[in-house]
Amino acid sequence: MATERTLSIIKPDATSRNLTGKINAKFEEAGLRIIAQKRIKLTKAQAGTFYEVHKERPFYDELCDFMASGPVVVQVLEGEGAIAKNREVMGATNPAEAAPGTIRAEFAESVGENSVHGSDAPETAAVEISYFFAGIELVG
Ligand code: CMP
Repeated sequence: MATERTLSIIKPDATSRNLTGKINAKFEEAGLRIIAQKRIKLTKAQAGTFYEVHKERPFYDELCDFMASGPVVVQVLEGEGAIAKNREVMGATNPAEAAPGTIRAEFAESVGENSVHGSDAPETAAVEISYFFAGIELVG
């Protein structure tokens, strides 16, 4: 399997509960390498652009408010099959459906406040990584 890069976000519900280290440990235990990382606070407009693909969904406004409600940690994870592997480590979007041991099963509070985001495909990973990081910031 090819080495891939994927965009990960540790969301405000997790940063506010001081879970960044515990979540990063899950990534590293799964063999994902954190090759770039920064803690930032998004504006609602920045969150809206990031999640533009969901703008017709009923939860879009609530999602953007939530993502701008506190600090997030944006990061690039690298590894073999990193996109699928990260989605496995995160667990299902809805924590009630997430497999035991996954980040969302252990830490997420609801489908909206679900602790982490991860890219879903190589094309979206490339777009999402370039939204937050310049090439010079990615040190594999
Ligand atoms: P994420 O992987 O970041 O991608 C889109 C996000 O929308 C998703 O995680 C959830 O946090 C959020 N989301 C999906 N469905 C709902 C919902 N029914 N209500 C609120 N938020 C949702």
